[in-house]
Amino acid sequence: MSSTAPLKATSPAKVILFGEHAVVYGQPALAVPVASLRATALIEPSEQFRILAVDTGRSVSLDALAEMVDDALWRMAKLTLDFFHAEPPKVTITLTSQIPPASGLGSGAAVSAALGRAVALAVGKTISQDELNPLVYEVERIYHGTPSGIDNTVIVYEQPVFFMREHPIERLSIKAPFGLIIADTGKASLTKVAVGDVRTLYDADRVRIQPLLERIGQVSRAARTALESGEIETLGRLMNENHELLQQLTVSSPELDALVSAARDADALGAKLSGGGRGGNMIALVDETTRQAVQDALIKAGAARVLFTLVQ
Ligand code: PMV
Repeated sequence: MSSTAPLKATSPAKVILFGEHAVVYGQPALAVPVASLRATALIEPSEQFRILAVDTGRSVSLDALAEMVDDALWRMAKLTLDFFHAEPPKVTITLTSQIPPASGLGSGAAVSAALGRAVALAVGKTISQDELNPLVYEVERIYHGTPSGIDNTVIVYEQPVFFMREHPIERLSIKAPFGLIIADTGKASLTKVAVGDVRTLYDADRVRIQPLLERIGQVSRAARTALESGEIETLGRLMNENHELLQQLTVSSPELDALVSAARDADALGAKLSGGGRGGNMIALVDETTRQAVQDALIKAGAARVLFTLVQ
């Protein structure tokens, strides 16, 4: 690798608009990238191959590579090197991320995707989205246990997706751009635990849970139609219904419910939790006239961080 300008690779955060949890059971889900929040991997020449994860203060080097198969960063680096039949390059890859971890914004998949791209660059290759996506999925299994694959897909392709397990990826077309406020409860929550609890519920009472999952699937399909035809108010109503269904799946929390109510009381067109739930983030649909009031209401209701994004 040349020792001139440092190379870097980045990947975005994501939010799930509809269908989380039900997507694990084969129902469709909708997700969009959040371009303003990113994970970055900076590549610089060094004596030996090293990955530095600045946010967590971790630094691991080449000799650990063989042993740390359960470590997500090392697994990603190794999968990418193996994909190209390449030896570890003499570089330090420094990882930084603006995406809060364990909060439903896809931080793990974004870091993996940026790292995979950086490792490819460091061995003089570029990795296509179709090549990178299964490698990131493989690493997601360390974080999630049984991931549906939606996080890695929306993050690697960096485009709105209509996602169903074991179906070709479909790009979601959005007729009219709309505003979303993403608000963080400030409470970290592991998706793996919430997904496991829904599984326990499903196994114990399939007769009650299966129709909830199917109804979420219908909501996601209706939301796709609303997005394709620019019916923003319908979209808001569907977000509200999706949140109620997620409450029944036990993946909301008092903190999430408080933010969802505050957003609705401030005239958001709709609001729901996003991602694994129990903590992490919620989303509220706003227009120019409600944006500021909803943002203020969310902060007053205890949101740790509030971010506006225009989905288009
Ligand atoms: O918490 P997140 O943003 O990683 O979202 C997980 C989405 C789930 O549907 C709950 C799990 C999955 O693998 O799809």
